[in-house]
Amino acid sequence: MIRFQSNRTVAVGEAMIELAETGDGTYRQGFAGDAFNTAWHMAQIPGLELPVRFVTKVGTDTLSDAFVDALEASGLDASFVGRVPDRTMGLYMIELNGTERSFHYWRDASAARLLADEDAWLARSLQGAGLIHVSGITLAILHAEAQARLISTLALARRQGALVSFDPNVRPRLWPSSDAAREAIQSMLAVTDIALPSFDDEASLWGDRSPFETVERLRAEQVAEIVVKNGAGAITVWDGERLAQAPCTPVARISDTSGAGDAFNAGYLAARLEGRAPVHAIASGQVMSATVLQHFGARIPLGQVPNLATVTPHIPAD
Ligand SMILES: Nc1ncnc2c1ncn2[C@@H]1O[C@H](COP(=O)(O)OP(=O)(O)OP(=O)(O)O)[C@@H](O)[C@H]1O
Ligand SMILES: [Mg+2]
Repeated sequence: MIRFQSNRTVAVGEAMIELAETGDGTYRQGFAGDAFNTAWHMAQIPGLELPVRFVTKVGTDTLSDAFVDALEASGLDASFVGRVPDRTMGLYMIELNGTERSFHYWRDASAARLLADEDAWLARSLQGAGLIHVSGITLAILHAEAQARLISTLALARRQGALVSFDPNVRPRLWPSSDAAREAIQSMLAVTDIALPSFDDEASLWGDRSPFETVERLRAEQVAEIVVKNGAGAITVWDGERLAQAPCTPVARISDTSGAGDAFNAGYLAARLEGRAPVHAIASGQVMSATVLQHFGARIPLGQVPNLATVTPHIPAD
């Protein structure tokens, strides 16, 4: 089973400005993005005080300043939030149509797309990390050369002892083609220690017929630890030695499902950094995702992130 050299966590990705309609033609402004959501939740877990750095690029405008302030106010390390003078953060809007929500994005020219353009800066941002978390969205927003640079920099960090977690979070509209997505994700798997896919994404991109097939495919890529999420279905885990399934605990009063996977990743990875075994850490992921499911938006309100110390595993493991 894999072991971390330290609990210093670095997440790499894009944070966007979020405008969420509040129901009367007015919009509440926030910040969100998959790897960012995971990093943010990890840093907020009571009693752990995990050192978490978020690596991205933003603009030099006042909204980008507000993002950096919000990051620091939430206890995250913003020392590798690069500033790009002629770009701004990406933006997305959540429109309400009754209880249905539609998402609209303006992110084609976001500063975050340049996050892997300077290899020395990127390598420095990962130095000393025990865990580095990256998503398929982080890859998808980069041009092919920058994808390769990110992957080779992750390979270097692994040689220095870091472990890499990867949630493929497949978003077809961010990729020029399914082939491009498969090719980049396949290269990323070669530097992945912990894979955190969702089954519906994997089924649509790779044609997997069951979570077990997803595990088999990722094992063939030498991924050491694999957790296949599946919405309200059971979670399938390969811990490097054994395959197990944990049932999904039903969640009452779901407000919306956005960010469930990102929050799961945060609870799971935090528990793994604390030394819990994979089958045990699943329960922490579920407590975190259940809490985000009961709140509007992709993040749990500040101060309401659950304490994971008392979470008990579904399956006796350690
Ligand atoms: N309907 C549900 N009831 C209970 N738990 C759920 C439900 N949907 C999701 N979850 C929890 O959230 C986790 C992640 O769900 P899912 O696989 O749908 O994430 P996802 O598709 O990655 O989401 P996103 O990428 O939008 O954050 C599940 O493993 C489960 O623990
Ligand atoms: Mg997901």
